[in-house]
Amino acid sequence: MDDTPVGLRPVSSAVTPSYVIAIDGPSGAGKSSTSRGVADRLGLRYLDTGAMFRALTWAVLEAGVDVTDADAVAAYAATPLLVSGTDPLEPTIEVDGVDVAEAIRGAAVTAGVSQVSAVPAVRTRLLEMQRAIIRLGSIVVVGRDIGSVGAREAQVKVSRTADAQARAARRAAEEGGADVAATRASLLRRDRVDSARSAAPLTMPEGATHIDTTDFTLEEVIAQVVALAEAAEAAS
Ligand code: DC
Repeated sequence: MDDTPVGLRPVSSAVTPSYVIAIDGPSGAGKSSTSRGVADRLGLRYLDTGAMFRALTWAVLEAGVDVTDADAVAAYAATPLLVSGTDPLEPTIEVDGVDVAEAIRGAAVTAGVSQVSAVPAVRTRLLEMQRAIIRLGSIVVVGRDIGSVGAREAQVKVSRTADAQARAARRAAEEGGADVAATRASLLRRDRVDSARSAAPLTMPEGATHIDTTDFTLEEVIAQVVALAEAAEAAS
């Protein structure tokens, strides 16, 4: 990649610089890899909102706050400084200057993130941060409710799903060969909590194109989303 700041690179397609593409879907549906690939192909920035929820959960755990105590989590939510780097080829996430990109994928964070992300004060703070990044445009944003809440105005919205077994296999491979059955149980448990919560439950956003990725390769799904973006641009 050249040294030109991301977002200032000439776009490689007809997509305009202010473009926002929102990609929703549950864990393991391949949202991150697809979104990074699409952002790279179109010369856009990339933001993984799930990583922000994970980073705040990491901070909550580090501070010794009980993730099941919603009041304590709410009281702590404004304390840590989160910084998300938006280069799709090298996305970064820091909490108070500490690189947590690896730590946020660990078992402790995965086990606590649904509880932390159900706390309204957490959602309000992270949503404000997400909006500030999205407002600058030229970005592919990924996250469970991003097409219906954080990036409602996105020109292209994609809702990705895949069957539970395919999602578990992908996520287990990402975690360096974790047990697929245990990963599947953990994914389904988080889906249940994320869908049942009253603050921003998992839903299909209005105007989204649904893609079931079970039978497609990553490259095929990236090509489908790029084609959607180019068609939306041509129609505008
Ligand atoms: O996609 P993921 O597994 O990295 O997301 C981690 C958690 O963050 C997930 O359990 C729900 C939460 N999340 C959310 O509530 N809203 C978002 N926009 C993104 C993630």
